[in-house]
Amino acid sequence: MTFDVRRIRAAYPALADGYAYLDGAAGTQVPAAVIGAIRGAYEAGLSNGDGAFPASARADAITAACREAIADLVGGEPAGVVLGPNMTTLTYRIAAALAKTWQPGDEVIVSRLDHDANIRPWIQAAAGAGAVVRWAEVDAATGELAAEQYAGLIGGRTRLVAVTAASNVIGTKPDVPAITALARAAGALSYVDGVHATPHGPVDIRTLGADFYATSAYKWSGPHIGAVVASPELLGSLRPDKLVASPDSVPDRFELGTPPFADLAGASAAVDHLAALDDAATGTRRQRVLASMAAAEAHEQRLFAVMLDALDRMRHVTTYGKAAARTATAFFTVAGYSPRQVAERLASRRINVWNGHNYAWEVTGVLGIRASGSAVRAGLVHYNDESDVARLIEAVAELG
Ligand SMILES: Cc1ncc(COP(=O)(O)O)c(C=O)c1O
Repeated sequence: MTFDVRRIRAAYPALADGYAYLDGAAGTQVPAAVIGAIRGAYEAGLSNGDGAFPASARADAITAACREAIADLVGGEPAGVVLGPNMTTLTYRIAAALAKTWQPGDEVIVSRLDHDANIRPWIQAAAGAGAVVRWAEVDAATGELAAEQYAGLIGGRTRLVAVTAASNVIGTKPDVPAITALARAAGALSYVDGVHATPHGPVDIRTLGADFYATSAYKWSGPHIGAVVASPELLGSLRPDKLVASPDSVPDRFELGTPPFADLAGASAAVDHLAALDDAATGTRRQRVLASMAAAEAHEQRLFAVMLDALDRMRHVTTYGKAAARTATAFFTVAGYSPRQVAERLASRRINVWNGHNYAWEVTGVLGIRASGSAVRAGLVHYNDESDVARLIEAVAELG
């Protein structure tokens, strides 16, 4: 494993501006190769898909390549990759399609750990179908979402279990394979939110046991598009609302209107970028993605241990979440300052961090901090380095 963060940082034009980009959990910067792929798609001549001429064939080839790339990223099949504008839109779409199969009295399980985009679409779809919503709870002290509780939640009427692969604020990575196994044994489907998890380590949707896995390219160095990955057979069993004239095949049937073809080219380039994070990675793109994401995870976790330890030692800082397995995402408050004030102070030091609930509406409520502005989020991704961490530690220490 060879992880050269200097080489990787040099691939990102934006990182030359002198800011410490600790805001990656809300969207990463984009490497030159991704920008070049988007530009190149337009420069080559790009038309709408399914036409008789080369510029149209290029659009179709870009779409097919993007499905292959995302399948390689998460371990799915290209024919099961539904592309869309973002995870939230796609989740509403899948929820509406699934809800058509629900009966009054059926049950849907959501978790308090999740981003609201993997909660509210299910609650609203359940309300329309007369289905009952049940909640999996987070332990406020540890930030853990205990998998064991699902044995008591899942029953004969459970149709869907929606759970995140990682919290976008406290980083908790629940035992998704255990949760999806319980769902499957009860004949229920699982919808796993991989938006925060995907950039932080290797993903294999079969190991996760996810029937649906959602991810957003803009969290992993790509453009602003999302995808939901499922088996083509499962997608083929669902009938989303669609135009009569649009394709009825899978996965196209789930996709509305004209896609952003150039961005799809960018998403493929982002997967190629991820596959090359580990200089020593060899083999197929899927194999290189797995090796590279393991290297990226090790790099992030090494930096995160330093960052978290320093924050935990500061008497004026409170950190949230202590899960045994978590992404390199810190969530903290500083005594005497609102989260917004901390973010503004750090911005004046050219350090980008987020403040607020970050749409983790339920868990910030469980932590009892939502009404006071929630907390500050400093998240690491593969392009962050020691100096980003040192600058954060120094700037937060100054607030004491
Ligand atoms: C864990 C998680 N789920 C879902 C979303 C929503 O993703 P999108 O912006 O693609 O709709 C986000 C965005 O921050 C997220 O972090």
